[in-house]
This record gives sequence, structure tokens and C-alpha cells, in this order.
Amino acid sequence: MSVNVSVFGKTADGKTVEEYTIINKNGTKVSVITYGATLKNIFVRDKNNKLDDILVGFDDMDGFINRSDYQGVIVGPYANRIGGASFSVDGKEYKLTANEKGVTCLHSAGEFNTAVWNGAATSDNSVKLTYRSPDGLNGFPGNIDACVTYILTDDDELKLEYKAVSDKKTVINLTNHAYFNLGGFDSGSVLDHIVSINADYITPVDEYSIPTGELAAVENTPFDFKKCKRIGDEIDFDCEQLNFTGGYDHNFCINGYNGKLKAAASVFDPRSGRKMDVYTDLPGIQFYTGNFLKGDLGKDNKPIEKRSGFCLETQFFPDTPNKPNFIQCTFAPGQEYTSETVFKFYTAK
Ligand code: BGC
Repeated sequence: MSVNVSVFGKTADGKTVEEYTIINKNGTKVSVITYGATLKNIFVRDKNNKLDDILVGFDDMDGFINRSDYQGVIVGPYANRIGGASFSVDGKEYKLTANEKGVTCLHSAGEFNTAVWNGAATSDNSVKLTYRSPDGLNGFPGNIDACVTYILTDDDELKLEYKAVSDKKTVINLTNHAYFNLGGFDSGSVLDHIVSINADYITPVDEYSIPTGELAAVENTPFDFKKCKRIGDEIDFDCEQLNFTGGYDHNFCINGYNGKLKAAASVFDPRSGRKMDVYTDLPGIQFYTGNFLKGDLGKDNKPIEKRSGFCLETQFFPDTPNKPNFIQCTFAPGQEYTSETVFKFYTAK
């Protein structure tokens, strides 16, 4: 195993961005850049032993800065949406940047994913990225020290270990926003990918994609992925939830949450034979089918079309700070947030 480091580029204000690449004994290759602590490439073999990059995204800084739909980035301090762009801790209200439709706060107004993190190879198969978020940025309380470690094993598991700690009581919810296409980033639509998700319930949303607070059973709805089915089978079904979001873009409540690592979802691409299993110790996973991708130029100058990638973002539920009945993610000063997500790659028939 080895980790290589090189200069990737510079931000508009002249900060140097590094790229770290980990290669394992199978030739599986993972690259991470320090801008947004972003997962940039995952080269993994298909059923014919061919290596392809299965991450939809960009080749250069210009793409990450100007055409980003959060491809591969770490989102924080609060992933996904906070309704009304505000929340309260112990009776004190915090007003956040309302970066979506002037109403909601989406992905913390892009803070963690546009920061340049400090990178370091911590072993021959791991890269650690750290970032200090200043108190009050976009309205979030506390200086937050955040850390994400990417680890690639010889079993083709990519592990993401998250840690964060604040000096004020606040909400913390970190995720990675990778768009996968198991056929390769330029292989077209993901509608033929076959998905299963270990969830009996989703958190249905309103027209602003804010959870209503209810848990809705997936049974007999297009959201039932308990038995695997093609993404495309029911994505255009005429129902309120899919009409609000233009396809899947919902939080699934992982069955049997107990804070320990659990199988959350599995995806298979019959054409390439690649399969990916997702594990997390968090209670939720956002299944997003790239409904808002709009043909911006990505890797190899090819357009990133609608539904050409899917995301499985492990998380606390969206808008948890305003939903007392959800599993909470408010941390006291000095109390550490930790979590782990694993993406495991292999081939199957
Ligand atoms: C959200 C989508 C959003 C996408 C890119 C996902 O986490 O749920 O609604 O369009 O991120 O911002």
C-alpha cells in the first residue's frame, strides 16, 4: 500500500490544494483533495478486471469551484437542510445563512466543502484531513475542530472516520456527498442500477424538502427498497413525495439504529458487475438520484447529466435541530461527535 501526495491546484485566493492518492494491492485507487476534503476519484475493477473511475465529478479546481453540486465533498457542520434557516439551543435562537430559496439552510451554506483542509498521510493506507470552523460562521455556534480520515483496505473497503468537537453547544452532522456511477463516471444514467436500502421508513418532506416530522412507512410505495429494485422502476411514479423532489431525494431511516456500524444500502450495476455496500453507525441515509444535475462539464469535459450519479449520504435526519422527535445531534462543549461510514466494493453476477 502507498499514499502519494502532489499539488492539485490553487483556490481563487491563492491557497494551495493538495491531492492524496492511496493505492491498494488490487490496484484500487482513491484520490482525495484538501479543498472540501473531497473524494475525487475511486478507480475500482469491474467483472472483466477493468479499472474505471466510478465517481462523478471534476478533474480540476475550476470544476470544483465553479460547477459544484457538492460532488465528493464533505458537508458540514450540518449536512442537508435546516428549515427556516434557524434552530435553538437551550432557548437561544441561531439564525443561519438561508442559501436556498432565501428560506432554508442547505449543506451549511457550503462551509466545509469550500474550505481548504489540512491533509496528512497517517499510514500507508490512510489520509487525515482537519479543519477548524470559526465560531459564528453562517450562524453556527462554536469553534468546531473537524477531522475526516479516509482509509482504503486491501479488501476494497473505503472507510470514512469522522470526528468533530465544538467549544459551544451546537449541532453537528457530517457527511460525504459522493455521486457514484458504478459503470464509470461517463457511462450515462444510473436508472438501471439495482438498489436495496435497509429501511422501513423515510422522513417525508414538504415542498421545501424539509421533513414534516413524521415517519412514513415505505411499504407499498416507490420508496420500498427493502427488496432490491432498479432505481428507474418507480422514480417517475406520480406521487406527492417524488413530485416535490423530482426523483429520489429523501432520508431513509436505517432499521435498528443503535449507534453501531450497520448495513444501510447496497447497489449493483449489472452491466459492469460492480457492487457497493454502504455501512454506517448513523440513523439515516439520504438517497439522492442526481435529479438537479444539469449537464455542467465534468471529468474529461463530459456533461454531468441529470441522474448520471446517485448519492448515499449517511447522516442524522435533515432538520433534526427543529424536530424534537428525531434522534438528536446536539453536542455539549468538548463532547466529541464521532461516526464511521464504509463503502465496500466488489463484483457480483
Ligand atoms: C440534497 C439535494 C441537493 C443535493 C445537492 C442533497 O443532499 O438532498 O436536495 O440538491 O444534495 O445539493
